[in-house]
Amino acid sequence: MSCTSIILAIVTFSAILTLGDESSNTPPVPQPTPAPLLLVDQRLSVVFPVIQKFKNIITSDPLGVTKSWTGPDICKYKGFYCDNPPDNKTAIALASIDFNGFQLSAPSLDGFLDQLPDIGLFHANSNFFTGTISPNVAKLPYLYELDISNNLFSGSFPNAILGMNSLNFLDIRFNLFAGSVPPQLFTKDLDVLFLNNNHFMQRLPKKKKKSHIILLTLANNKFFGPIPRGIYKALSTVTEVLFLNNLLSGCLPYELGFLKEAVVFDAGNNRLTGPIPFSLGCLGKLEVLNFAGNLLHGMVPEVVCALGNLANLSLSDNYFIYVGPICRGLIRKGVLDLRKNCIPDLPFQRTVFKCAAFFAKPRHCPYMPTYGFLPCWLPHFNSPSPYNVLDLSSIRTSLKDKADYSRQPTAMPLPKEEPH
Ligand SMILES: *[C@@H]1O[C@H](CO)[C@@H](O)[C@H](O)[C@H]1NC(C)=O
Ligand SMILES: *[C@@H]1O[C@H](CO)[C@@H](O)[C@H](O)[C@H]1NC(C)=O
Repeated sequence: MSCTSIILAIVTFSAILTLGDESSNTPPVPQPTPAPLLLVDQRLSVVFPVIQKFKNIITSDPLGVTKSWTGPDICKYKGFYCDNPPDNKTAIALASIDFNGFQLSAPSLDGFLDQLPDIGLFHANSNFFTGTISPNVAKLPYLYELDISNNLFSGSFPNAILGMNSLNFLDIRFNLFAGSVPPQLFTKDLDVLFLNNNHFMQRLPKKKKKSHIILLTLANNKFFGPIPRGIYKALSTVTEVLFLNNLLSGCLPYELGFLKEAVVFDAGNNRLTGPIPFSLGCLGKLEVLNFAGNLLHGMVPEVVCALGNLANLSLSDNYFIYVGPICRGLIRKGVLDLRKNCIPDLPFQRTVFKCAAFFAKPRHCPYMPTYGFLPCWLPHFNSPSPYNVLDLSSIRTSLKDKADYSRQPTAMPLPKEEPH
């Protein structure tokens, strides 16, 4: 561009700004007409029309929130917050939006969210926003928290999110997103990834790249395939993993024992099979472990029941055949639920027929020797050979031996619900 055309552009621009303001040739502050709006910062003038445009497409506002969205002081609008942007500490910009629970209805966030160049936080859970997410959100340089959970967004996973380099917190749960999830999402630099309660259908990625995810919820989707062995690299910092109500299958990887920070691991209601790796006994911070409603079998590892912080170990509705004294102690305390399994002397077990039918099929896991390894030092446990209890032929024999187990006396009463 030549010098002349730049000057020409500037002149034209100021001419536009001065339209309707004949009294002065060089106004220090551009005053848009007709409203005598005086926005404190150029950055706010940029987003002002964007907000007004969005206000016009809102079809329902039962709480009357948008009534406050008038006048020049954007920073006082309900749900809008201003701050100094990272690139200019003296400027004032629209830094965050919190529409949580506003119950607003709008056909789309396109032309709104993606046109707020200084936005850092966008929280809009529990509204009735619909549509898809514009690819332009990838251009928002500062957005680090995006929460659009509990809305009516649909379409495939918004791939633009992969290009958002500042993003740290992504919550899109309770929407109508469907289809696959790009595997790169799991290795993105996110602390929090909530995808639960959508219609995603995706094999868990095998990639072993490191990530920083602390909270991961994929619950109530249709994620399928095995839990990948590389999980410990991708989730080495994770404290909460919610895989429940998906279609995950295959055997549990021994590497789960490396999720050292895990406090909650919930993979209930999937199609997981095989034994529980003893390595889970190394997860010293674990408080909740749920594998209820799967096809797990073998013994309940005593080393897992010995975990000091365990408050809820749900293993009901599986095919376990053996439980030792430490675990029985947890049943008495109401911590361990083993109903609907194949344990001869416990009440509320499956029928002999059901158990026999399950074990009639050969059931193998790869890397069988790893199931007995303990990747940590625990004073009261050394790595026992897992073969005695995990060898399925011996399981089948033992089942035959105990074919009348359902008639055995109830040795261990099920814990009663303790009144609180
Ligand atoms: C920073 O923002 C202030 C207020 O908008 C503005 O006057 C100033 O020119 C900006 N500085 C830079 C370096 O852009
Ligand atoms: C333990 O977890 C299971 C599965 O999440 C849940 O259904 C159950 O209510 C919990 N039990 C207690 C005592 O919290």
